[in-house]
Amino acid sequence: MQSEAVPGPLHAAIIMDGNGRWATQRGLPRLAGHHRGVESIRRTAEACPDLGIGTLTLYAFSADNWQRPAEEVGGLMRLLRSYLRNETQRLARTGTRLSVVGRRDRLPDGIPEAIAAAEAATAAGTRLHLRICVDYSARDAIIAAAQRLQGEDPTRESFGKLVAGPMHGSPVDVDLLIRTGGERRLSDFMLWEAAYAELHFTERMWPEFGPEDLAEAVAEFGRRERRFGGLKAPAVSAAA
Ligand code: IPE
Ligand code: IPE
Ligand code: MG
Repeated sequence: MQSEAVPGPLHAAIIMDGNGRWATQRGLPRLAGHHRGVESIRRTAEACPDLGIGTLTLYAFSADNWQRPAEEVGGLMRLLRSYLRNETQRLARTGTRLSVVGRRDRLPDGIPEAIAAAEAATAAGTRLHLRICVDYSARDAIIAAAQRLQGEDPTRESFGKLVAGPMHGSPVDVDLLIRTGGERRLSDFMLWEAAYAELHFTERMWPEFGPEDLAEAVAEFGRRERRFGGLKAPAVSAAA
């Protein structure tokens, strides 16, 4: 018997990196890479249910990305605005529930309202929970959770819920964490939630990532042996 014969709906998370390099390599402005990246989000999200992924958490803009030139930040915010405007109907139609994770108080005018509207319009979705992290820092999320404790004595489970924020029934723990673009670092993403995540790094730049790459990552995940600090599961007799 395979250990984990029924993997159950997985929680996958992706650090969508490499947009800028993809564009620069083609003599295009970095924003062209970010534009292409939106299409990767769509095709990757739509491939999830058939691959057994029930929750997909995407890193779209980090709290540290505000340091980039104003032109790039402005372009990314315009892209977020148009994503919310153009994709919400399609998300609802494909049974996708959208949540946006991260700080909202530093986002440009109108975007927090657009996020709330998109979340409300997709709240009935049950095929996929798509979580997009914007102005997100895992360390800030942990600090914010600690500030909400108010003298309570937390457990891993209760504190994890505070760190992760509203999960709408999705698991807090990330099973499979993918980073595109060739770098092998976490860049302040899901530090709590990825405690036992399987890590998958690919050279593929995010604008070129698609269902085949995701399927490959899931297949590799299926071949890993997760031990959670214990020992290899004992072999079950052939008759089982
Ligand atoms: C990831 O691509 C998207 C964001 C961080 C907004 P990058 O913009 O970091 O692309 P590279 O890493 O410079 O190629
Ligand atoms: C991480 O990528 C953030 C996102 C993908 C949104 P960065 O490109 O910002 O990370 P570093 O700077 O290479 O660590
Ligand atoms: Mg990058």
